[in-house]
Parts: sequence; C-alpha cells; structure tokens
Amino acid sequence: MPELLQLDRVVGAYAKWAPIYDLVFGPVFRQGRRAAIDAAENIGGRILEVGVGTGISLPGYSPVNRITGVDISEPMLAKARRRVAALGLDHIERIDVMDAERLDFADDSFDVAVAQYVITAVPHPERALDELARVVRPGGEIVITTRVGAGDGMRGAIEKVMMPVTGRLGFRTDFPWTRYLDWMAQNPSVELVERRELPPLGHFALLRFRKLNPAAREILQ
Ligand SMILES: C[S@@+](CC[C@H](N)C(=O)[O-])C[C@H]1O[C@@H](n2cnc3c(N)ncnc32)[C@H](O)[C@@H]1O
Repeated sequence: MPELLQLDRVVGAYAKWAPIYDLVFGPVFRQGRRAAIDAAENIGGRILEVGVGTGISLPGYSPVNRITGVDISEPMLAKARRRVAALGLDHIERIDVMDAERLDFADDSFDVAVAQYVITAVPHPERALDELARVVRPGGEIVITTRVGAGDGMRGAIEKVMMPVTGRLGFRTDFPWTRYLDWMAQNPSVELVERRELPPLGHFALLRFRKLNPAAREILQ
C-alpha cells in the first residue's frame, strides 16, 4: 500500500508546529493523555514514550516510574527538555531524537511503550508498531492513543481525500482499524487487551496490547 506521509515532511511539519503545539493540541487531547498515562502506570517501571513531542504528558507521570522520551523532531524535543528542567522532573531519564520505526533500544527493554497521537503521524505505522512490540518485555504493554480511521463508507472516503492535505500537516486521516487487525494477525506475540473510545467525538481510541511471554504464545497457537 503506498504511504502518503514522508519523514522529511513530518519533520518539517512539526518544526512549524513546535512553537504553538501545546496551545493548539494541549486541551483537546488532555483526557486521552491522562488515560494513556494511567494505563501505563498500571504496569509501571521503565516506560518509553515514543513521539513524546513537547513533553506535554511528562508532568503527568508519577516519579516512581522511570521515563524515556523519544521523537523525530528536535524543535519539539527542545521544548520537552525545557519543560523537564523547569519542572525538575528527575524521573525523566532520557530525551532523544529517534525514529519510531527504528528504535535504538535492545529487545524487551521496557515495561511499557506509550505512543500518544503518534501512530497516525509516522510514515509506516506497522513498522512503528513492530518496534514498540520489540522493545517491550513479555508481559509488558503497548499503550496507544490514536485516531482510528473509518475505513469504508462516506467518512472513510472523506478521510482518503483529505490525506494529501493532512499529510502536509504531519498526520494521516486514513488509518482504519483493519490495519491494526492485519498487524495483529502478523504478530502473534501481541494480544489486544483493550479498545476504548476517547474524546473528542469518539473518533479517537485508547488501545492496549500485551506482549505475550513465549509460554503463553505456545498455548494460544
Ligand atoms: C500529534 S504529535 C503528538 C505529540 C504528543 N505525544 C502528544 O500527546 O501531544 C505527533 C508526534 O510524533 C512525532 N513523530 C512523527 N513521526 C515520528 C517518527 N517517525 N518517529 C518519532 N516521532 C515521530 C512528531 O514529531 C510529533 O512530536
């Protein structure tokens, strides 16, 4: 399937978003971010937040957890670093430029991997999902907040038509649930544990996937 998002365009788009991102996207995703942090902290421990952006979620994590944040956009991360320093968030261990599709971490490095409003912003979402699954330990979770595309029907058609426009703004509108189903079918190491609607308008969702340990995987196969 051809991908309409290109990494250099995404980087360019978020360089422009960085100065105003919190103002535009702060309140609208607040409930979703809280839900994602709560889900991640139910597991707790070493938490990776991919696409951490300006670090808007970072003050929400309890200091008992250790957080690593990565993002492809240096201007977004510059704001995150300033936030961490200003608020003295000592439990934020690392903030680094990194591509979600090529994470520079060993397998099974984290208890939880979080991606908030990121899966629809990367050029190859399935590659990013593969990487999230790789770096989480067996028994750990992948927590995603995202817009779920409509797929077929009028809304799906509108989403496809809008892609060239939203692609230039740094996100896609056309990533339907069937892409997650296909990804899960290719990845027997993960199981869906929750799909919950999020505001605004129920067009967004909280998704939780658990990485199975090898024994559980054998029983299920
Ligand atoms: C819509 S913003 C979400 C930011 C933040 N997670 C939030 O909750 O507001 C999408 C973020 O994903 C980042 N991003 C896009 N493509 C990426 C990639 N391939 N690897 C890492 N981060 C990426 C962007 O730079 C941007 O910071």
